[in-house]
Amino acid sequence: MNGSFNKTTIKKPNAASGAPVVGNTIGALKDPLRFLICLKNEYGDVVTVRIGGKKYHVTQSPHASAHILQENAGNYIKPGAAKMMKQFLGDGLATSNGSLWLRQRRLIQPAFHKSKLEGILNVINDEAGQLIQWWKKISPGEPINVNDGLLKLTLGNISRTMFGSGLNDRGDEIAAVITRLMACASSSVNSVIHLPLSVPTPGNLRFRKAISDFEKILYDIINQRKDNGNGRHADLLDLLLHAYDNESGTGMNERQLRDETATIFMTGHETTAQTLSWILYKLAVNPQVYQRVRNESEAIGGEVTAMDALQKLPYTKAVIEETMRIYPPVWVMARRAVQDDCICGFHIPAGATMLINIYGMNHHPGYWNDPESFIPERFVNPESERHPFLFIPFGMGRRLCIGNMFAMTVMQTVLVKLVSEFSFQTAEDHTPVPRPNITLRAKNGVILKIGQAISSPEYGGYANHK
Ligand code: HEM
Repeated sequence: MNGSFNKTTIKKPNAASGAPVVGNTIGALKDPLRFLICLKNEYGDVVTVRIGGKKYHVTQSPHASAHILQENAGNYIKPGAAKMMKQFLGDGLATSNGSLWLRQRRLIQPAFHKSKLEGILNVINDEAGQLIQWWKKISPGEPINVNDGLLKLTLGNISRTMFGSGLNDRGDEIAAVITRLMACASSSVNSVIHLPLSVPTPGNLRFRKAISDFEKILYDIINQRKDNGNGRHADLLDLLLHAYDNESGTGMNERQLRDETATIFMTGHETTAQTLSWILYKLAVNPQVYQRVRNESEAIGGEVTAMDALQKLPYTKAVIEETMRIYPPVWVMARRAVQDDCICGFHIPAGATMLINIYGMNHHPGYWNDPESFIPERFVNPESERHPFLFIPFGMGRRLCIGNMFAMTVMQTVLVKLVSEFSFQTAEDHTPVPRPNITLRAKNGVILKIGQAISSPEYGGYANHK
C-alpha cells in the first residue's frame, strides 16, 4: 500500500445519489453523456457510482488523471472491465498487463516510430484517392453515411501499412465482419447483465460467430505472409513473426500473433474513422472552418507528400483536436487499483475500478470556455495554460496510445485530400447523435451530402461555431 497516507483518516468519495438496488444505472443508460458531465458539478473530483450492480470510482480531475496514469501508474492496471474486449482482443497490447504487456510494447513500438510515417504517406493518399473515386460516383446531393467509406479507408490503411496486405476484393467482407463484431461488442457494453460467452444466448452465439470469422481473416493474413517465404518486410507483422524472447527462448506463439494482429486491427481503424466522420460533420455545419482547412490544403497543393508538410497545417490539426475534445473516441479510461491509494484527498481502496471521465473533463465549463461550441482556435491560441492531463484523447503515461502519431498523420493527410475535392453539407432532418459505445460513435450514422470543393471565401460564413 502507498504509505504516505492513513486510510482511516482520509475521506471516502461521495456516492452519486441513485435509486435503491439499481443505483445510477438508469441515469447512466438514459443519457450517459449528460450523466458524465454532471458528475463534476454535483460531486466534484472523485465520486462513486453504481451501474449494473458494479461500483466504480469516477474521476473528472486532471490532477487525478496525472496521478493514475503517471505519478502512481504502477498501482493501476487494466481492469477486468476490459474483459469484454479480451474476448476478441485476447492478451494483446491494449488489454494485457505486467511483464507480458511490457515485452509486447517494446517489441511493437518500433513499428510506430516517427521514421516509419514518411513511408506510409503514399498508402494513406492512395486509400484516400480510392474513397474520393467512390464518392465521386454518388449522385450530387444524395445523402450518404460518410462513416462507411471512412471505416473502409482506415481499415485499408491498417492492413496495408501494418500487415503489408491489401484488402483487395475482401474489403467489403472484412468491413462487414468488423461491423458485426463491433455491434456485438457494443450491445455487450450496453447490457446490464453479462453472461459469459460460453452461455449460448442468441447474442452470445452471434458474438462467437463474429469472433471466429474475424479470427479466420487474421490467420489468413498471417499465413499468407508465412507462405510467402522468409523475406523480411518493413512492417509490424514482420516484427511479430520474427520476435524472439530471450527469457523463454521462444518466438510468439499462434495465439499471441492472433491477439496482437487483432488488437492493432481494431484499435487502429475504429477510433480514427469515427474522428474523421465527426470532423466532416463539423466542416459541414461550420463553412468558415471548412474554408480555412481548405486554404491550408490548397497552400500545400492538395496532398501531403512529405511529413514536413504537416507543419504547415496548424489549423487542420486544431480542427482534429477540437473534434476529439467534443467527441472523444475513447470517452472513458478504466484502471484497477492494485493497492490502497489516496487521490485528490480521497481514499481509493485496493481493487477499486477507476474510471477517468474523459468526456466529462472535455465538456466541463470549469475547464473550458463555452465547452459545447466548436472552436478550433482554442488549440491554436490556448485561452490560458491547461493542465497537461486535461485534454488527453490519446491517454498519457506509459500506456499512451502507441498509434497517436500514426493516427494524427492519417487524419491530417486524409483531410487535406478530401477538402481539396469535396465540400460537405448536412442532410435535412439528420443530426448525428453521439452515443458512448466501445468508441463514441454517432448512433444514427453521420449522414452528409457531398458536393464539389468550394474555394470562395464567401462560402457559408456562419458567425457562430456549432
Ligand atoms: C483518433 C485515433 C485514436 C485515438 C483517439 C486513440 C486513443 C487511445 C487511448 C486513449 C489509448 C489509451 C487507453 C488507456 O490508457 O486505457 C489508446 C491505446 C492504444 N491505442 Fe490508440 N487511439 C487512436 C488510434 C490508434 C491507432 C491508429 C492505433 C494503431 C495503429 C492505436 C493503437 C493503440 C494501442 C495498441 C493501444 C494500447 C497501448 C498500450 O496499452 O500499451 N490507436 N489509444
